[in-house]
Amino acid sequence: MKKILVTGALGQIGSELTTKLRSVYGADHVIATDIRKKEDDIIVQSGPFEVLDVTDAQRMFDIAKAYQVDTVIHLAALLSATAEAQPLLAWNLNMGGLVNALEVSRELNCQFFTPSSIGAFGPSTPKDNTPQDTIQRPTTMYGVNKVAGELLCDYYFHKFGVDTRGLRFPGLISYVTPPGGGTTDYAVEIYYKAVQDGKYTSYIGKGTYMDMMYMPDALNAIINLMETDGSKLIHRNSFNVTAMSFEPEQVAASIKKYIPTFTMDYNVDPVRQAIADSWPNSIDASAAKQEWGFTADYDLDKMTRDMLEKLRQKLVEKAS
Ligand code: SER
Repeated sequence: MKKILVTGALGQIGSELTTKLRSVYGADHVIATDIRKKEDDIIVQSGPFEVLDVTDAQRMFDIAKAYQVDTVIHLAALLSATAEAQPLLAWNLNMGGLVNALEVSRELNCQFFTPSSIGAFGPSTPKDNTPQDTIQRPTTMYGVNKVAGELLCDYYFHKFGVDTRGLRFPGLISYVTPPGGGTTDYAVEIYYKAVQDGKYTSYIGKGTYMDMMYMPDALNAIINLMETDGSKLIHRNSFNVTAMSFEPEQVAASIKKYIPTFTMDYNVDPVRQAIADSWPNSIDASAAKQEWGFTADYDLDKMTRDMLEKLRQKLVEKAS
């Protein structure tokens, strides 16, 4: 049975992944860590939890050793828009945290996962059906971190034999924990605003396509990749994965099917628009399908139905 250390466990992916991992591998087998502790958080209450600043290499090592972990899932990072506002902080946190987590994995012989992103591509990358192996010259600090991270994970595999694995996630959409500081966050906010106000002002402009995925598919992808026989993996760090590609008006149209009075207008944020414009319109996930059987269950309408239903329960019924 695996013994897993999760960093950034209270973040957008971590809060749901930790719960899922605890249900699969047992609560005591998943050690959640985050830079802050929220006593009333289900993650803090449902199993082992330690406060960890991922730039503190010694503490990360001490926690991993004390709990005798054999797997590290490193999620703590700044997203694209925050990284653009504070590039040096992003470099120190995103790269410093990653190298510390890789070192712990090398020293304690752990399997390792960290997410990459569509942000690892840039304006010179082919925009449509972006291949697995292609030009990666991103123009954002987040993208620089992600490309360097993919290479560093490859390096730890080839040089030290660490079983590193990764996914290039698109925008992740969920009703549980909101993302913070990402470019794709509009595709989460729009559902909250649809339920709360019946209208939304998009900071991403008309006609801007980006890949997206519903969180249940992302969680399954992480677990399936980690459970795959490593000898089958050619592209370890990192696999393109996607479930759908849409522009803001398409997600608005999908919401309108369930909330006919919903309206959307635009107030484009130049910083996040420039980031979105430098990313692909759609990516090709065929390597992930071939090498470890990646699939996604949710398309746009199926996701919209579920998001609206779950957010109504969370926001409206809870308030009444
Ligand atoms: N969702 C991320 C962001 O927008 C992309 O990986 O920053």
